[in-house]
Amino acid sequence: MPKDEIFQETVTRVEKPSSHYTLLRAPNGDFLGASDDGLGTFDYVDDKAIWDADGETYRHVATGLVVETESPCSKDGRYLRHGAKWLASDGTLSDAAALFTTGHGPAHLPSEYLKSFRENGWVCFPSIIAPDIIEELERVSYTGRWEESGEFDRSMAPMLQTAAVAKIATEPVSLWLMRQYMGVQDIRLGHSPGFAILPKDDGKRNVQGWHSDFPYLWGIAGRIPDRIPVHQVDGLVLGVQRNLCVSEFRKENGATCFKLGSHASGEGPPAEWGTGNANKTPGHREARGLPYTGPDADVVEAPPGSYIVYDSRTWHRAGVNRTPHKRAAMLQAVIPMFMLPFRDTSRIYKQFINGPFPDELTELEKRELEALMVSRMLSPDGPLAITIDDELTERIRLPE
Ligand SMILES: [Fe+2]
Repeated sequence: MPKDEIFQETVTRVEKPSSHYTLLRAPNGDFLGASDDGLGTFDYVDDKAIWDADGETYRHVATGLVVETESPCSKDGRYLRHGAKWLASDGTLSDAAALFTTGHGPAHLPSEYLKSFRENGWVCFPSIIAPDIIEELERVSYTGRWEESGEFDRSMAPMLQTAAVAKIATEPVSLWLMRQYMGVQDIRLGHSPGFAILPKDDGKRNVQGWHSDFPYLWGIAGRIPDRIPVHQVDGLVLGVQRNLCVSEFRKENGATCFKLGSHASGEGPPAEWGTGNANKTPGHREARGLPYTGPDADVVEAPPGSYIVYDSRTWHRAGVNRTPHKRAAMLQAVIPMFMLPFRDTSRIYKQFINGPFPDELTELEKRELEALMVSRMLSPDGPLAITIDDELTERIRLPE
């Protein structure tokens, strides 16, 4: 392909929102919301838990109900009042007040994101993660404002380097969305969250070919025992990919290229587009050039802090970074609990809970993280945690 014909993908740009809704957290991390039954707290965020901030007043978007901050707030939170009553820790009206904290929420209602996801097979939550958490992820990945300060330490899981990883993994609106889309409450991470740091392209090295993500892995050979056979859509969704744009995602710096809508085709990307397999062969790029970069492909551009969530069947590949700066993302394959994960998450979770970072999480975030990283099996005595057995692992690795 002549050089001037490459990088012709169609750009879909998701702009940085001018404002965000607010989430109000009770002391245990549950979210203040309102329903027909009045005020209450919830351990998930759908439209019931979305507030619009106006100074010290919070208006519940779905019902128009208003709560107010009575006095100047501290860094530990604020007391909320509804009419003449205080709000207790469970959101009910009381004479005793509890401290609530305010947090960065989505730009649109959760139901709007879900509608779009169901219609299109992908959705973007622009800048849904608070800027301070994004800077913390830049710090540990040595990208963005920290690019000149060092190199990311690949010897240790990112989750063991900062509490920011657990925070983004338990982001409540995207969790709710994925549970709805896959139709199961029990979902889990297919691996512990990992950075994808894309340096400037040198014009020579192989780039990622077209593929579908875990657990489908269409377009990728070599993992055949794990992957899902090609099949037509039947309403069953076995995986969703949730990728956090740590850096701004632009076509020029290697934002992910998609064939948007391809999840519905029930098959993998065509071989002539250059699949994940072909592009791994040494010297492939020099001999055959880049995978397909034409106008039938799409690039989703998004501001930093955005979550791009897509049906794992969607054909895609990493972009090509044509800027001098690294492009960072944090990738998470998310699957129903009835699927086997891509990698073990139980041991990293154990290291995490024995380290310093759980102190920075709310009780709800701790529960969510455990649910996302520890698989359970039921027994007559109660649930059992599934983990790796070193002795059996050694046994199955022995040469026959
Ligand atoms: Fe992928």
